Amino acid sequence: MSEDHIKISRDGAVLEIRFNRPEKKNAITNAMYGAMADAIIEAESNDDIRVVLFTSVGDFFSAGNDIKDFAAQSAGAFDGPRHVGRFLEEMIKAEKPVVAAVQGHAVGVGTTMLFQCDLVYVAEDARLTVPFIDLGVVPENASSMTMVDRLGHTRAFALFGLGEPLLGKDAAAWGLANAALPSGEVQPRARAAAQALASKPAQSMRHTKKLMRDREALMARMREEGEIFAERLRSPEAAAAFSKFLQR
Ligand code: COA
Repeated sequence: MSEDHIKISRDGAVLEIRFNRPEKKNAITNAMYGAMADAIIEAESNDDIRVVLFTSVGDFFSAGNDIKDFAAQSAGAFDGPRHVGRFLEEMIKAEKPVVAAVQGHAVGVGTTMLFQCDLVYVAEDARLTVPFIDLGVVPENASSMTMVDRLGHTRAFALFGLGEPLLGKDAAAWGLANAALPSGEVQPRARAAAQALASKPAQSMRHTKKLMRDREALMARMREEGEIFAERLRSPEAAAAFSKFLQR
């Protein structure tokens, strides 16, 4: 990875993880998952860090998993450790609050990771999609549970099954996001919220977050999805979807 594809910075007690691959709509490679997992581990173990904030450069929050990586995994041509599972697990395990600023569109894990965050600010014109079925795979990141819990079955199914986008204003109205804002206001609002969280009693914050989330259930669902996802990745349906995208 170009080290710059994930930018890590600190502002006081807030650790900011920034997607910085705008030329590929912030699609996430294996190495980028690794850098994000490491950053969350560092945030959890460092008492000087109290909040994690996700932001991005450009007009996309993230176009999701890099399809070239998917295609290589599908063809059994992917060597070395895979970091996506580590990233998803660290997000679920995180005891410190996580805030996201979504000032553009999001696809796949770019959307499902928002359901693991504690505060989410989206652009009014954001489009959040989860095209797992179109790609021949299945929902990941416990989203078959979190999206149903948060949005209700039929709304979640329209997103998964029909590939309909969740628009920014609906994300706020339906309980995914705290607010839908003009795009230029999203990051300042999220940064202010992150700083406000960082100023509160840290241990009370940690206990409250733990009490509010059933981490065991999230982890169990994420692993159950992961097994089916891995099988589906090697399916002819998935291989056809990846090669269609790559040959556009
Ligand atoms: N993986 C790898 N590359 C991606 C990518 C992804 N998930 N999403 C976008 N890119 C690349 C494109 O291949 C293109 O690269 P190029 O300029 O070298 O050709 C560049 O990013 C710009 O994308 P483009 O498709 O031209 O932009 P767009 O605004 O027309 O469309 C998307 C943006 C996100 C709607 C479209 O790129 C897309 O559908 N991407 C796939 C999203 C996806 O299915 N992700 C997996 C979810 S599980």
